[in-house]
Amino acid sequence: MPIPSKKFDLSTTVTSNELIAKNHYLLRCSCPEIAASAGPGQFIHVLIPQGSGLLLRRPFTIYTVEGDQITMLYQLIGEGTHVLSRLKWGDPIQVLGPLGNTFDILPVPNPAIIVGGGAGIASLMLLATTLRRARVHTFGLVGSMNRRRLLSVEDLKTIGVETHIATDDGSVGHHGFVTELLTHLLDTHEMQSPIIYACGPDGMLHAVTKIGLDYHIPTQLAMENRMGCALGVCLGCVCKVQMPEGGFEYQRVCTEGPVFNAKDIVW
Ligand SMILES: Cc1cc2nc3c(=O)[nH]c(=O)nc-3n(C[C@H](O)[C@H](O)[C@H](O)COP(=O)(O)OP(=O)(O)OC[C@H]3O[C@@H](n4cnc5c(N)ncnc54)[C@H](O)[C@@H]3O)c2cc1C
Ligand code: FES
Repeated sequence: MPIPSKKFDLSTTVTSNELIAKNHYLLRCSCPEIAASAGPGQFIHVLIPQGSGLLLRRPFTIYTVEGDQITMLYQLIGEGTHVLSRLKWGDPIQVLGPLGNTFDILPVPNPAIIVGGGAGIASLMLLATTLRRARVHTFGLVGSMNRRRLLSVEDLKTIGVETHIATDDGSVGHHGFVTELLTHLLDTHEMQSPIIYACGPDGMLHAVTKIGLDYHIPTQLAMENRMGCALGVCLGCVCKVQMPEGGFEYQRVCTEGPVFNAKDIVW
């Protein structure tokens, strides 16, 4: 996967920070340098504002680029994301990015199939936008616990992604796993040279990997391992990767990733 090299550590301010679904927020801030160079799948490392006592930054994928502004869509998890959710217009924020490699869209997929589980769909939105700008026929399969936690469906539809939903409780869309939507799609559609792109919980990524291998479809995964430095130094984020010549090595999700070929990941 391509690894762009330029990164910027910007002191900026929040332009908006809204609740968009149960326990999920969309934060927007002005970051011209990051906006100008961000690629699909890349992330930012956000310093939780002064006074929080939190020293480690938190990683979030760049959700959209809108002129000079970038957005991040985040789920409330622990202390860091709770502090972030209280930020308002004009509050200062420190953002390092863009970090990591990007999804590979060469050769051009026909079609592209995006599979997002929970907040994982946030890591696929900039990719969807890039694919649709290149007029690639794109399916979006969005999995969620329930209707109230459903993310990104309208954003995907607006850019022309053919979107299907699966919920654990059946409150909207298919009642079951998003991976069932994937096998159904593959079983019912003629496809020339499909590529699958996925992000979500490990169990889902493992299942998507297996489907990709069974159907002989190249599959790329955005991994979300816990991070320390996000700069390749601490080795806190490594995942086990199969080498083409045999054997395996540990690669850093923050620098060699976050995007990996699914077939290379050793689960
Ligand atoms: C490359 C990358 C991109 C990500 N993009 C998004 C995104 O777009 N939207 C989103 O909602 N979440 C995303 N995450 C997960 C997000 O970083 C964590 O949910 C967040 O850091 C939790 O912080 P916290 O302080 O609220 O939780 P705490 O549990 O208090 O966090 C403690 C520590 O664990 C780390 N951590 C906790 N959960 C995760 C996790 N699931 N993944 C990685 N690190 C974690 C934190 O960075 C922090 O160092 C991404 C993670 C990675 C690695
Ligand atoms: S987070 Fe430190 S090496 Fe990846």
